[in-house]
Amino acid sequence: MDLSSPRGTIDIYGEDIDYRNYIINTAREILEIFNYAEIITPAFEYTQVFSRSIGENTDIVSKQMYTFPDKKGRLLTLRPEGTASIVRAILENKMYSEKLPLKLFYIGNMFRYEKPQKGRMREFWQLGIESIGSDNPIIDAEAIWILNLFFEKLGFKKLALKVNNIGCRKCRKKFLEEFKKYLRPEKNKLCSDCRKRFKENPLRIFDCKKIDCTEVLKGSPDISYYLCSECKKNFEEVLKCLKILDIKYRIDKNLVRGFDYYTGTIFEIISEDLESAQNALGGGGRYDNLISDMGGADIPATGFAVGIDRTIILMKQLNIDLKKSDKKSKVYLIAMDKISQIYSTLILKYLREKEVVCDMNFNIRSLKKEITWARDNGYNFIIIVGEDEMKTGNLTMKDINKFKQYKVDWKNDKEKIIEIIGAQNID
Ligand code: HAM
Repeated sequence: MDLSSPRGTIDIYGEDIDYRNYIINTAREILEIFNYAEIITPAFEYTQVFSRSIGENTDIVSKQMYTFPDKKGRLLTLRPEGTASIVRAILENKMYSEKLPLKLFYIGNMFRYEKPQKGRMREFWQLGIESIGSDNPIIDAEAIWILNLFFEKLGFKKLALKVNNIGCRKCRKKFLEEFKKYLRPEKNKLCSDCRKRFKENPLRIFDCKKIDCTEVLKGSPDISYYLCSECKKNFEEVLKCLKILDIKYRIDKNLVRGFDYYTGTIFEIISEDLESAQNALGGGGRYDNLISDMGGADIPATGFAVGIDRTIILMKQLNIDLKKSDKKSKVYLIAMDKISQIYSTLILKYLREKEVVCDMNFNIRSLKKEITWARDNGYNFIIIVGEDEMKTGNLTMKDINKFKQYKVDWKNDKEKIIEIIGAQNID
């Protein structure tokens, strides 16, 4: 019997939890300022929610979905992304009848049956935004602005923001005709996947990293020449806004992204530091037809998602420290014997009522071992409790990083503990 975790999944614990909370808190702070409200949707949906929105011929739907029948034979799928679920929720709860635009954000685990490697997992966490109900290019720029600001606030330096416009359905159709015309004589030079894509989803050939395919693409028609006047104007306005906001970007005409629902402006933020091939930290774009394709009114929308796991990997790789303000003083009580342990609960009660992060040793070990343990586990103060301390009420409190020692009269002046912590609190 195999009791290990399934391939492509991880347990998140220890310092990764600190990173994760830091990332999520940073996002929450920004999203509050930008007026986004949280939404939580189920981790699984009826399969058609994803197959209809993401596209039957995309890699995600054709190869990567965890799909299974429930006990009544209904097909369910673990969500591979958040956008389709959010649109389903908006339609089902008639949220569109509220004032538009609707600005929502979500944090959730996603599931894709991929070949696992560093930064690419089968269960991973995303943080995303969806902005529903406006076709104003300023809202595209706002999404890009948030994405950029988020990584800047986390402390990233070498990031590249790529933008492109893949046109609306009308202008993309014209481009695809020309693109196929161009590719037809070169078809045999393409890899087997791209030969299939040529038939089913030619735009995705731009995503292929194989040298033969990128060579073929070098002389390909450029989608920007095929944009209708409205798409062109919208894209220009997005870029103008980015300039005003002083956001550095790079137009990448090969950026297409892997979902059929995209229209118009799309974007991706990549790390030029991430060693692995999985260097896309986040991406998104406009999806003006998705809501009507899923049975709703003709409502435009845009959004993006960020990979939390990849962000953690990169922050650690780049030695980006978590801001100290997140670190509170922590106190560890070291009781020398069983009776002192019971006495220590009184001190814990006092400290916890004062909202001090604290704990005590539940196993009796040597003082040296306990101090090492406290240091390794992020405590900065210890308080020693033994027979003498219980008798006299005089506690010894130590700052284990600064090697300072204090005497505290527990019976008559317990507030001194809080004073010491307050003076030393890391902020
Ligand atoms: P996506 O580009 O597929 O977009 O995913 C967004 C981010 O999720 C990626 O940039 C990456 O950081 C992370 N990610 C994706 N797959 C994996 C994986 N297998 N393991 C670890 N991290 C991964 C979307 O999902 C769209 N729904 C974004 C969107 C929202 N577009 C409009 N609104």
